[in-house]
Amino acid sequence: MCGIIGCVGCGDGTLSTLLHGLSKLEYRGYDSAGVALVGDGSLRVAKKAGKLDALEAAVEERADLAGTVGIGHTRWSTHGPPTDDNAHPHQDCTKRVAVVHNGIIENYQSLRDELAESGHEFDSDTDTEVVPHLVEASLEAGRDPEAAFRDAVARLEGSFALACVVEGTEAVFVARNDSPLVLGIGDDATYLASDVPAFREFTDRVVYLEDGEFARLTADGWSVSDVDGTLREKTVDTVDWDPEDTGKSGYDHFMLKEIHEQPRALRQCLQGRVDELGGSVTLEELDDLDLERAHLVAAGTSYHAAVYGAQLLRDDGVPAQAFLSHEYATSPPPTEDATVIGVSQSGETADTLAATREAQRRGAETLAVTNTVGSTMARECDHVCYIRSGPEIGVAATKTFAGQQTALNLLTQHLSPGPVDRDLIAALRDLPSDVQAILDETDAEAVGETYLDSDAYFFIGRALNYPVAMEGALKMKEITYKHAEGFAAGELKHGTLALVTPDTPVIANVIGDGELARKTVGNVKEVEARDAPVVAVTDGQSDVERYANHVLEVPETHPRAAAILANIQLQLVAYHTAAKLGRSIDKPRNLAKSVTVE
Ligand code: M6R
Repeated sequence: MCGIIGCVGCGDGTLSTLLHGLSKLEYRGYDSAGVALVGDGSLRVAKKAGKLDALEAAVEERADLAGTVGIGHTRWSTHGPPTDDNAHPHQDCTKRVAVVHNGIIENYQSLRDELAESGHEFDSDTDTEVVPHLVEASLEAGRDPEAAFRDAVARLEGSFALACVVEGTEAVFVARNDSPLVLGIGDDATYLASDVPAFREFTDRVVYLEDGEFARLTADGWSVSDVDGTLREKTVDTVDWDPEDTGKSGYDHFMLKEIHEQPRALRQCLQGRVDELGGSVTLEELDDLDLERAHLVAAGTSYHAAVYGAQLLRDDGVPAQAFLSHEYATSPPPTEDATVIGVSQSGETADTLAATREAQRRGAETLAVTNTVGSTMARECDHVCYIRSGPEIGVAATKTFAGQQTALNLLTQHLSPGPVDRDLIAALRDLPSDVQAILDETDAEAVGETYLDSDAYFFIGRALNYPVAMEGALKMKEITYKHAEGFAAGELKHGTLALVTPDTPVIANVIGDGELARKTVGNVKEVEARDAPVVAVTDGQSDVERYANHVLEVPETHPRAAAILANIQLQLVAYHTAAKLGRSIDKPRNLAKSVTVE
């Protein structure tokens, strides 16, 4: 939710470095973008509503737009519609200050009223604009630029990652509270961003900022300090993935690339954690985790992974329940002895952080299951288990859902009081090649084409395939903009069946040939009798193919792994439907990859 980039020390390449960084951050928000550059004693700003190419076109016309220090922003609106005026950077009355912001300033209205009363005039509807005006007020009171920025930050309540430049000062001033920020440490330049891909091409050395920290970037280097200005020692970490990982590598969309990366992502997730010969699962990082009961908290796709994970734990005798994190944060259940597991790709989702923080406030032990090394959740929770999927740029979560499902299987085996399930271990070993087989042989494109004009899509599944059905529907609606719903198969006849017509395909996950499969085939017959087309996602063990118009096959395997495989087919159906409809697949309307406001 909003992407910030900044750099110092890039010389003539400052503007292009900022635009490059914004292109890598567009997944965080893409309704407007802007840059501010300082150099030769001047401050110059360009900003534009629309995707980044609108800003790039505007910048072409601006020969004056040069500087050696710069900040940039790509926006996901919270206050005011996407317009040129509401785009960041925001400025003060004198146009000497420029500020970019990610987060929400909760007390902005009272600050704005106060500033307006003392004569400040505002150009935008945003909460952010109070910040440059507060800086201006302190500059006028005789404070130096860094002190003026600190004064402004001291007045703010809410969540913010802020970067500020001031005319005549070749420095970027930075503050963080509840919104991610990371510094990139190059040989000659220093970078600042909401996320590492923004500068990964230039350096792999990073410093993660903590809440309450300030940073100062100048041509001489960088420093981090606390709210009182006391310098802090920071660790410089090295990121272990390639810049290539954040490009499209010849695929039409990041989403398709990331779907195809799943065999590798799952291999990485399993590597060194499964000993097939010894029949054991080792999550060394969780050796001191003592879990008797689990509450899994998450949002969106990660919530579907949490529902799946909770069932795995319950099936293995560990009391576990999944909660939507936003609900959990505001009305937590009374159980005090539960370990709270935050499931989050980004590790920055405000709703899920609120839930893990609430759990910590109540004294509960917390565990983060996340993809993002160094994320706020990874740092704040007592324990962390990384899913190791690599960077995911497409807004639609794909490989990280499979990674979460896989990691939750490992977690369950690690915690399980009973003997390790050797069949599952073997199935997990085969998972990457099973996924590859689906990618090589899928008929999902034909399914997408056939049902392109449908009124709605219904996804059904039972037990472990119920969250997969919900996830299939979420993927379909977010990238195709078509109505889709996911159900526990048994629920369909309790109301939604009234909506089933020949124009509403029902996509049914039917795995195995046991009771669950037989009951789901019964549900398939019910919709078939109403002339709804049926797409069966199946391992071929049941007779569902007799009632299906289309079959999407998954290799026969352990039911826990089959639920991971079934989802791959659903991802592909959603992708091909959206591609044929010409949708903006990697940046669906109104959405952002990382939702850092509640
Ligand atoms: O980063 P998180 O996993 O915490 O994000 C939670 C949701 O916003 C996210 O899963 C969202 O639903 C997906 N990007 C949708 O594909």
